[in-house]
Amino acid sequence: MRISVLGAAGNIGQALSLLLKIYLPAGSELYLYDIKPVVLGITLDLSHIPNDVQVKGFTEKDIFLALNNTDIVIIAAGIARKPGMERADLFDINSNIIINLVEKIAVMSPNALVCIITNPINITTVIAAEVLKKYGCYNKNKLFGITTLDIMRANQLVFIEKNLRNIDVPVVGGHSEITILPLLSQLKNITFTDKEAIEITKSIQNAGSEVVKAKIGNGSATLSMGYAATRFCLSLVQGMQGKHNILEYAYIEGDGKYTRFFSQPFFLGRHGIEKYKDIGKINGFEQIILHKMIEHLNKDILKGEKFIKK
Ligand code: 2OP
Repeated sequence: MRISVLGAAGNIGQALSLLLKIYLPAGSELYLYDIKPVVLGITLDLSHIPNDVQVKGFTEKDIFLALNNTDIVIIAAGIARKPGMERADLFDINSNIIINLVEKIAVMSPNALVCIITNPINITTVIAAEVLKKYGCYNKNKLFGITTLDIMRANQLVFIEKNLRNIDVPVVGGHSEITILPLLSQLKNITFTDKEAIEITKSIQNAGSEVVKAKIGNGSATLSMGYAATRFCLSLVQGMQGKHNILEYAYIEGDGKYTRFFSQPFFLGRHGIEKYKDIGKINGFEQIILHKMIEHLNKDILKGEKFIKK
């Protein structure tokens, strides 16, 4: 199994690379690429952790080597938010970074599973799909906008409020404020008052912005995001190794029931998504948010599609 991290010298990239070095199965190869040559030092640093995961670093023009025959590519490159910014404000710079990197993926590893962390995920994932399409290698079961952090935040908030552990709160929609919809009504053996549901939902939706504020101009969530992407990547690895019925959530081009791209549940297999799963029953409060988010998501999706057409 070969995993390539693009943007490995960034704050998310470094956390992610560290966790992958520790948790990838023995025998895996971890390829780290960044435009900044410091990635070679980061690679050397990581290589001192004694295990059977081999790390190799690549910089500048060596992107093609970093993507040679890779099974999973995770894109963490790009700029992060400053206080007062929304994820959408990163669009201009990050979209061009995504185009540039995905073009290389299309050439070097057209069959790889591709994970997008770079914000705004609601749009950059669409851009990645359109670039792959242009190159004739788009497979919608192999492209994922990572929304695992929303699930982790929801899990932690429900734990704090209700002391309930070992759950995975289903979170659907997208990865920006109003489009993040935790389905609290689906949790078994637990009920929320309307006030609780509203407050917890808001906290989950705003959690990313709270981190941006608290980091006072030094970026957004990096450590928890690194962990989230690791968790998702390890599920992909398990699927590729032949384990069945691995349930995950991500922003994908699913069956189009709500919008062309939508974060929903699915089962993973050897070649990415094996089967979509319906989001299931939701209550009135959740239906209102779902209804509201559709317009936002459609706008984001259209923006991504139009950007590529230009
Ligand atoms: C977040 O939700 C960075 O978008 C990321 O914090």
